[in-house]
Amino acid sequence: MILGIESTAHTLGMGIVHKGKVLSNIGDTYKPKNEGIIPRKAADHHAEKFAELLRANLHKAGVRMEDVDAIAYSEGPGLGACLKVGLVGAKYLALKYGKKMIGVNHPYAHIKIAEGISGVRNPLILYVSGGNTQLLIEKEGKFRVLGETLDMGVGNLFDAFGREIGMEYAHGAELAKLAEGGKYVPLPYVVKGMNLSFSGLLTHAAKEVNKGNKKDVAYSLFETSFAMLCEVTERALFLTRRKGVIVCGGVAQNKRLQGMLRSMCKEDGVKFGVAPDEFNRDNGAMIAYAGELIMKKGMRAPEKCGVDQDYRVDKLRLH
Ligand code: FE2
Repeated sequence: MILGIESTAHTLGMGIVHKGKVLSNIGDTYKPKNEGIIPRKAADHHAEKFAELLRANLHKAGVRMEDVDAIAYSEGPGLGACLKVGLVGAKYLALKYGKKMIGVNHPYAHIKIAEGISGVRNPLILYVSGGNTQLLIEKEGKFRVLGETLDMGVGNLFDAFGREIGMEYAHGAELAKLAEGGKYVPLPYVVKGMNLSFSGLLTHAAKEVNKGNKKDVAYSLFETSFAMLCEVTERALFLTRRKGVIVCGGVAQNKRLQGMLRSMCKEDGVKFGVAPDEFNRDNGAMIAYAGELIMKKGMRAPEKCGVDQDYRVDKLRLH
């Protein structure tokens, strides 16, 4: 039985997994108002919520700390201050209860739980979140990046635009509500092979808001960026000849993106997989789930554990 702790960014998540089955998955998200994530404030939120979330997860799973075999935690990539709260909490529990720890790469956890739940094996992976936008394949235990954003993550595009138009809590899901029923206005479309760029799109959209209405520009921002994601995904699909596509990460919760990818996969005759929302937003269960997969190779003594803010999935190393 694995306890997973996620703390890469604005969410402190915990979850308990046993033999691939999720027994609990309860977290809490820091919601900044009128600003982006200030790492120190998010880290304080995580420290304050740690004990409460641990109790809630143990209660939901109906287990005690003594029943847990190992503690998996997010090793990176992420915000240093936030990662360290998860690490320190995990170390404290590991030392107190005499458990081993498993450092988990955050994108790896998103990918593995999406694969496991959707049942799409050996897929082309589209990983889309606030900080990350990557097209990946796994080959012989290593991940290869086929394409990625050259500037910001697609989720960050929505958050930054939300702040630009004065949303108090600027978040992709809130912006998606505003975008409903909007009309299309042309925005820059920047695809370079299998790479993407979103910064020009953000600048242009921010200017366009002064001319038109917020709803139309928000709608067009989603349509344009998702069309870009579909184009690069389809190109990678034909290059790799994989028989399925999964989408994972926070932005994978967006139903319009899911719909566009699903119809693309249908046309191309390949499978499409996506996990339920609770596993696409940052969560502890995915860390526990991935920790269980790498348990044999990944177990370490608490004093040998650290964090790596720039831990890209293509640098994944299983100790
Ligand atoms: Fe994430």
